[in-house]
Amino acid sequence: CGIVGYTGARAALGIVLDGLRRLEYRGYDSAGVAVVAEGGLLVCKRAGKLANLEKALSERDDWQPPAQSGDGAGQGGGAAPSPTGISGGTTAIGHTRWATHGGPTDRNAHPHLSSDCRVGVIHNGIIENFAQLRDELEGCDVEFASDTDTECVAHLLCRELEQSGVEDLAEAMRRVCRRLEGAFTLLAVDANAPDTVVGARRSSPLVVGRGDGENYLASDVSAFIEHTRDAIELGQDQVVVITPDEVVITDFAGNVTAGKDFHIDWDASAAEKGGYDYFMLKEIAEQPQAVAETLIGRLTEAGEIALDEVRITDQDLRDIDKIFIVACGTAYHAGMVAKYAIEHWTRIPCEVELASEFRYRDPVLDRSTLLVAISQSGETMDTLMALRHAKEQKARVLAICNTNGSTIPRESDGVLYTHAGPEIAVASTKAFLTQLVACYLVGLHLAQVRGIKYADEVGAVVAQLQAMPSKVEEVLTTMEPVRELARELANSRSVLFIGRHVGYPVALEGALKLKELAYMHAEGFAAGELKHGPIALIDEGTPVVCVVPSPAGRGVLHDKIVSNIQEIRARGARTIVIAEEGDDAVLPYADDLVRVPRTPTLLAPLVTTVPLQVLACEIAASRGHDVDQPRNLAKSVTVE
Ligand code: G6P
Repeated sequence: CGIVGYTGARAALGIVLDGLRRLEYRGYDSAGVAVVAEGGLLVCKRAGKLANLEKALSERDDWQPPAQSGDGAGQGGGAAPSPTGISGGTTAIGHTRWATHGGPTDRNAHPHLSSDCRVGVIHNGIIENFAQLRDELEGCDVEFASDTDTECVAHLLCRELEQSGVEDLAEAMRRVCRRLEGAFTLLAVDANAPDTVVGARRSSPLVVGRGDGENYLASDVSAFIEHTRDAIELGQDQVVVITPDEVVITDFAGNVTAGKDFHIDWDASAAEKGGYDYFMLKEIAEQPQAVAETLIGRLTEAGEIALDEVRITDQDLRDIDKIFIVACGTAYHAGMVAKYAIEHWTRIPCEVELASEFRYRDPVLDRSTLLVAISQSGETMDTLMALRHAKEQKARVLAICNTNGSTIPRESDGVLYTHAGPEIAVASTKAFLTQLVACYLVGLHLAQVRGIKYADEVGAVVAQLQAMPSKVEEVLTTMEPVRELARELANSRSVLFIGRHVGYPVALEGALKLKELAYMHAEGFAAGELKHGPIALIDEGTPVVCVVPSPAGRGVLHDKIVSNIQEIRARGARTIVIAEEGDDAVLPYADDLVRVPRTPTLLAPLVTTVPLQVLACEIAASRGHDVDQPRNLAKSVTVE
């Protein structure tokens, strides 16, 4: 979910709506705002996307649309406060939701209010003991207006303020948080405290933005980046109170503590579409740059890997005898590719596992295990829980992450940041390519540190990696036939993807993209496995995307997949072949051919994935779908 809070001198509603627009990728089932004004809370909330909320607001008498940036009224919606109504308040909270408890309806949209409408609350996460809390509250005749776990918090806060004699919202929040189980970010406002927003954080993201005479709270910095670059990262189990001139942080017991100050160095325009129809198209186009940025400063002129930032000592890395990679979704596919590269270069056994499965099967971990957690957001709860489990078993933990200061890198022993820049489209593209690069770097670093025989290859691979940004660029310049193909495939019932070796995770990623964006049946298979069952799916004209490895190097792999392509073609499939320049062996069997530049096998996913991203994006667009915000999904899933 996306969360924003503001207090200052400007009209809060416009600022909060602007922030929500920037956070909408975090969830878009419903949206709502609460403004502290006219001695009470003015609330508006609607199911569906933010646009529904804005429409509802525009139908209210007390609503004035926020002024646009550059009209002299301050940045991003800072219209001069109107004297009355929802547009007039200078303190507000806002929320875009990805539903957990209770369906995405108006009544379940946040904010939730206490019965007397004094306290308003927004929430991200799950309160695990909510049933018990709800029973307790209902036993005291509290009537619930929604099906959410969040509403409990509004009632509990109100009880603290009205019945337990607690003087302020912050103390009420601390008391309530001590009773909550689960993971949560909460923001609350109190009609009796017009200049205050109180936040609380446990295992779920919340950052403070410090302005001049105004302060912000948000799930991530993109919500306030156009107003301030000074931010504070909150720690685990902390409560924060913002007023226009002050930020006070305490633990849940009330001891004053400090957050970690940081400066946001990316450009606000990085989170804008910049002339593209969709963020996803922009992010696909940014991939050469993202790959280059992730390599910068990590390769020496002598052809070595320099990963000082990893913070795990060389000795500890030498002691490692087993590697687990855990991740979800697209990041998991990056991990699958990593397994091939890491095992080949380091000879350390490496397993890759879905983070949501990992801890429940009681994996064998000890202090000589390295767990690599891959996550774009750094907040995915499944991945975080797998990481915590590994830490409890004394494993070393290394994060590969795109979001500075997020929870996963913070809780890891070391971190290798990917420098993809903000990724806004829900379906991951440039983050995936940079995760691959980071995985290669980790593998090569380990090989180098351990001085094993395959370390000889490091120098050669470094040179090959340096050539990758321009190869990705080359792929992007030849995508017109893929776009045409997408239009032809837009009405297919199902699309299959096959690959071998690192082409197998690429096939899975191609299928995932199509499912996420086009809502089409799509499946990826290891090409050799096809004959053991999935080949029965192939019918006259079934499109099958075949990711063909380079004939150079591992020639046997290439020959095997060419046979597989023949097998499916003989059964009527329409073969869409992704093969490198000069590979003529595939020509007789390709109904459609997409060329990619020659690339060593292990690095090939950096080029072969790109046409599959473009294919999915174009199919989704031609089916009329919202490419950046596909139905039912959210970009950071902070619940298990
Ligand atoms: C969500 C997103 C996916 C993403 C996955 C892992 O399900 O919709 O696109 O791959 O989470 O996210 P992470 O931030 O951990 O890489």
